[in-house]
Amino acid sequence: MNEYYEVTSASPEETSQLAEALAKHLEPGDLITLEGDLGAGKTSFTKGLAKGLGVKRTVNSPTFTIIKEYKGTELPLYHMDVYRLEEGGEDMGLEEYFDGDGVSVVEWPSMIKEELPQEKLAISIFHLDETSRRIRFEPHGARYITLCKEFLKR
Ligand SMILES: Nc1ncnc2c1ncn2[C@@H]1O[C@H](COP(=O)(O)OP(=O)(O)O)[C@@H](O)[C@H]1O
Ligand SMILES: [Mg+2]
Repeated sequence: MNEYYEVTSASPEETSQLAEALAKHLEPGDLITLEGDLGAGKTSFTKGLAKGLGVKRTVNSPTFTIIKEYKGTELPLYHMDVYRLEEGGEDMGLEEYFDGDGVSVVEWPSMIKEELPQEKLAISIFHLDETSRRIRFEPHGARYITLCKEFLKR
């Protein structure tokens, strides 16, 4: 397994604040994937990221929308929750988002493995108990290694 960093969050607010802080380090074209069981906190994390990017609208994961685009005062956010996708993501034009000027966040990346760029920040959230989560940051590629070092300074 690649090198990774882990942080423990003791509350939904802490997860949100962590994501909000991460957002300040993001650049156009960055890709973040979010793995974890239902209820782990992927959408909560995305909401924090959105706040950090200056998105004013409420971010949620509506039942029939796979990709949602949000304007942010810092950067746009492209939120993809591909949980309900049944085939791979071939014809969805995902590259346009990955090559776009915003930050792409993909919940359930395993559903579109073939379509995802190699370089990304892969985040996994593990359920520890009712209110705590372990959040793992696994950088793939030089850009994200630098990002993790800056953001998680250790
Ligand atoms: N430390 C924590 N971090 C994130 N969410 C938490 C935490 N503790 C409890 N929760 C709760 O877990 C749920 C996570 O839901 P959600 O973000 O929709 O998960 P997912 O998108 O992974 O299915 C929320 O109800 C949230 O309040
Ligand atoms: Mg979700």
